[in-house]
Amino acid sequence: MIPRSSFVVFEGVDGSGKSTQLERVTQLLRKEGVLVTATREPGGCGFAESLRSLILDQDELDPWAEAMVMGASRIEHCRTTIRPALARGEMVISDRYLGSSLVYQGMVNGIDVEEIYRLNHLSAEVIDPDLVVLLDLESPRKISDQSTFEKRGEAFWFAVRDGYRELAERFGWFIIDAEMGLEDITEAIIGRIFEKAGSKS
Ligand code: TMP
Repeated sequence: MIPRSSFVVFEGVDGSGKSTQLERVTQLLRKEGVLVTATREPGGCGFAESLRSLILDQDELDPWAEAMVMGASRIEHCRTTIRPALARGEMVISDRYLGSSLVYQGMVNGIDVEEIYRLNHLSAEVIDPDLVVLLDLESPRKISDQSTFEKRGEAFWFAVRDGYRELAERFGWFIIDAEMGLEDITEAIIGRIFEKAGSKS
């Protein structure tokens, strides 16, 4: 069963290999004839990509300000990229999405997770994914290229990791051990995507 019009999100701590897996999974699916739109957050459309550098350059924003900017970019991302791709029958895979706001602005920055969810759904443009894949790591890998980790420290990294685990249990996200080999991870994700597509039809 070829997955069509389905929305998949990869979530995880910095350095968990989301972007690498997004590339691998996208390439493999395309080889199988699946039409895939690969995207990311913050970003994924002109407006949100412009905000991305602004947001990521901030050392410390008020948690609500951060949540609202993330939410505003998500509305435009959904309206101009995700919804049109799904309407064309494509599969959409996003490197981060609402789950990141629930964890970073909610669990870690101390805003109630339900409030973050509600804030994001104030706009009817924002949709829930069909599948959320959490790439889970026990501890940080090398930190040399992890700017956020370097900036915010180890306690922050672990708070994010714990937040993801808690929400994955709560919302039934698909958890993958990101310590596994690249190929095993890709295979597990592809397997789950096809399984989901089968159960949707
Ligand atoms: P990345 O694109 O390198 O993964 O980094 C994006 C950063 O933005 C990462 O530290 C997580 C953060 N972020 C949030 O805090 N909330 C969000 O809603 C999103 C999408 C990202």
